[in-house]
Amino acid sequence: MATQADNSSPKKEAHKEGASRFRVTVVGSGNWGSVAVKLIASNTLHQSIFHDEVRMWVFEEVLPSGQKLTDTINRTNENVKYLPGIKLGKNVVADPDLENAVKEANMLVFVTPHQFMEGICKRLIGKIKPDAEAISLIKGMEVKKEGPCLISKLITDMLGINCCVLMGANIANEIALEKFSEATVGYRHSKEVAQRWARLVSTSYFLVSPVQDVEGVELCGTLKNVVAIAAGLVDGLDMGNNTKAAIMRIGLREMRALSKLLFSSVKDTTFFESCGVADLITTCLGGRNRRVAEAFARNGGKRSFDELEAELLQGQKLQGVSTAREVYEVLRHRGWQASFPLFTTVHEISIGKLPPSAIVEYSNSSAQ
Ligand SMILES: NC(=O)c1ccc[n+]([C@@H]2O[C@H](COP(=O)([O-])OP(=O)(O)OC[C@H]3O[C@@H](n4cnc5c(N)ncnc54)[C@H](O)[C@@H]3O)[C@@H](O)[C@H]2O)c1
Repeated sequence: MATQADNSSPKKEAHKEGASRFRVTVVGSGNWGSVAVKLIASNTLHQSIFHDEVRMWVFEEVLPSGQKLTDTINRTNENVKYLPGIKLGKNVVADPDLENAVKEANMLVFVTPHQFMEGICKRLIGKIKPDAEAISLIKGMEVKKEGPCLISKLITDMLGINCCVLMGANIANEIALEKFSEATVGYRHSKEVAQRWARLVSTSYFLVSPVQDVEGVELCGTLKNVVAIAAGLVDGLDMGNNTKAAIMRIGLREMRALSKLLFSSVKDTTFFESCGVADLITTCLGGRNRRVAEAFARNGGKRSFDELEAELLQGQKLQGVSTAREVYEVLRHRGWQASFPLFTTVHEISIGKLPPSAIVEYSNSSAQ
């Protein structure tokens, strides 16, 4: 299969005198963060526009062995906690010091659970290169008094830099094993910048297409996690494939309707990209949100999502429940709940206001 990546040459082309190379730092080192680092490190080695070294900021943890996660990554070239068994690339340097990790980078890849991003951005104000470009791989949003704030906007507003997004049908562990998948880069103005991001992450098994619709791409990646919770509930209730397909269809309709209500610029075609229907399908079939929601329904809603997340995910974070709460805040604030019965019901189930079975009992009113 053809690839957009310019990485076929086994040896990096000679660096042209005077040409400056892009330095890449990945802020985040969880499951997807580590896979992103592996993709990027394989490309920076072979493409002359990038500096070989990839820095990875690690939220420091002490492992049960008593060793620090960062030291272990640098010694073994593996993220033994979040991506065990996969080599990241010898040109990856794990760094627990956030400011040090970003100070030389002009390409910043943000990939942490969304709830930590505001704090991270606060720490980065005035610490990054003014010409840096960013990309967010983060699925989720913040809800402020003024309304929803997408993570790409949070980065742009707080750090004063342009931010693209990368979303898609990308269960990290499958890409780590180099199984073929696709992703979408959403960009605002510059296709050239989007293509550079695509070049940085594309491989023969990971194909990336740029789309000029940052909000549409990011909202797809964010909202599908709420639908995945609904899909998991349906699995836990043993409802079968027809019901799950119905949940996915209704969920996609609500995703599109809410995205377009929030941003009139969102394009219908975006929902047919990898970030749209493909990510929705993969997340509703596999993925951690579906898995934890299934356990929640099997326990009759008696064990909380927090408890199940801690038990089943070993430090990985669930995004769907917090996103459902954030979406609910937006719907409540704007008086739109009746038009989004699936989104509303997922939140009300997650806080124990409704039983898990309510996911297939909601009313007929629907998203436009
Ligand atoms: N895992 C996937 O398959 C996948 C795929 C696509 C997108 N994503 C998205 O990527 C983003 C990151 O997910 P992930 O899978 O890399 O992470 P993860 O859930 O596997 O790991 C959690 C990460 O958060 C870090 N962390 C814990 N407390 C922290 C704190 N106080 N401050 C900063 N960091 C802290 C941990 O060290 C760890 O690196 C999320 O938005 C997720 O939705 C994940």
